[in-house]
Amino acid sequence: MKCLVTGAAGFIGSHLAERLLLDGHTVVGIDRFSDYYDPAQKRSNAEGLLENSGFELAVRDLASERISDLLDGVDVVFHLAAQAGVRASWGESFSQYVDDNIRATQRLLEAVKDRSIDKFLYASTSSVYGDAQRFPTPEDAPPRPVSPYGVTKLAAEHLCNLYQRNYGVPVVAVRYFTVYGPRQRPDMAFRRFIDALLGGRDIDIYGDGGQTRDFTYISDAVDATVSAAFSSEAVGVFNVGGGSRIALRDAISILEELIGAEAQLKFDDAMPGDARDTSADIARAAAELRYRPSVDLASGLAKQVSWQRGFRD
Ligand SMILES: NC(=O)c1ccc[n+]([C@@H]2O[C@H](COP(=O)([O-])OP(=O)(O)OC[C@H]3O[C@@H](n4cnc5c(N)ncnc54)[C@H](O)[C@@H]3O)[C@@H](O)[C@H]2O)c1
Repeated sequence: MKCLVTGAAGFIGSHLAERLLLDGHTVVGIDRFSDYYDPAQKRSNAEGLLENSGFELAVRDLASERISDLLDGVDVVFHLAAQAGVRASWGESFSQYVDDNIRATQRLLEAVKDRSIDKFLYASTSSVYGDAQRFPTPEDAPPRPVSPYGVTKLAAEHLCNLYQRNYGVPVVAVRYFTVYGPRQRPDMAFRRFIDALLGGRDIDIYGDGGQTRDFTYISDAVDATVSAAFSSEAVGVFNVGGGSRIALRDAISILEELIGAEAQLKFDDAMPGDARDTSADIARAAAELRYRPSVDLASGLAKQVSWQRGFRD
């Protein structure tokens, strides 16, 4: 099959594109190499992909540049490109979230709506739930984002549904719960915590450290994504969690043990936009996608630590 992966030089997109190539597909990757974090990391994420003759990279902005030529012959679209990050989504930078998350999705949907594709997979987020009322949270919980980022990701999910209903675009959405592992974005908690521990610096915690997250290892997130895209019956939305809900404080204890260093914690006010807790009900993905997260937090963190050790050497 020929797959299009948007955000292919990003954290999740680069792992997904590698997996698709391994499975024997050809991949067209699109990325605008935004400077939300160092584009050098994105170039490094994409290095292995560029060595594969089944991969082609288009450096383009989905929100403003031509995309229809890249869709020729494409069977499956994986739409992962986005301006990520909850905390940065307030204030002036909101317009970037509108461009990268809403406008880009609408332009991509317009470009595919008259084509015959097998599946359009949209990468959504647990941030659409905000401060959920039920844990674990099922897909039919009312979405009430608590950050501008969550609002834009939910708006794009709604756009996908509109194009499905009105133009028959075969949409499926996965809502990732905090993905971690090698290549994790530098603004994400584990990446910052590991860097601080390795460098002997304080760990900044926003809030009291008692907030919980359902962490998903990157290969589990990729497995669920591939299953959702290639299963003809999969429609609608699927939570993708790792089955490892844990308080940040306790995750830091695991890191201390893995790294062999004691964390110096510096507590700051909780950040506006951060949900207090997240926990995925993955029953639907388990039943319909046969999704079984297989990497526990300690093993996944060990892999991320060793990647970050190599990264700084
Ligand atoms: N990492 C997580 O824990 C997590 C959790 C929930 C949802 N998600 C979603 O998963 C997807 C991937 O996240 P990630 O953590 O890999 O982020 P990332 O920032 O590493 O990757 C996103 C990539 O999209 C590219 N991009 C952004 N706007 C673009 C545009 N207009 N045109 C072309 N390329 C563009 C960026 O340059 C970047 O390389 C996003 O849609 C994000 O909202 C991620």
